Amino acid sequence: MLLKKGKLTPEEWEIMKQHVLIGEKICQPLRSMQGVIPIIRHHHERWDGSGYPDGLKGEKVPYLAQVFQIIDIYDALTSERP
Ligand SMILES: [Fe+2]
Repeated sequence: MLLKKGKLTPEEWEIMKQHVLIGEKICQPLRSMQGVIPIIRHHHERWDGSGYPDGLKGEKVPYLAQVFQIIDIYDALTSERP
């Protein structure tokens, strides 16, 4: 799905959105990852509440997740992606 050209179907989009929960689940038992779990879970939340997985809004989005989002968007804009 990551290499698919063109838009994702609604079903593919729902599967893709699971990556934040899968990443959180993988890292949850790892002591060394405890500090980054909120970033993993919330890096696709949006200031207006339209993000996922929890629809957090404004300051409810963890600060480091907001910072990571800027880095992620910069990477998306400056690197080749399908
Ligand atoms: Fe992501």
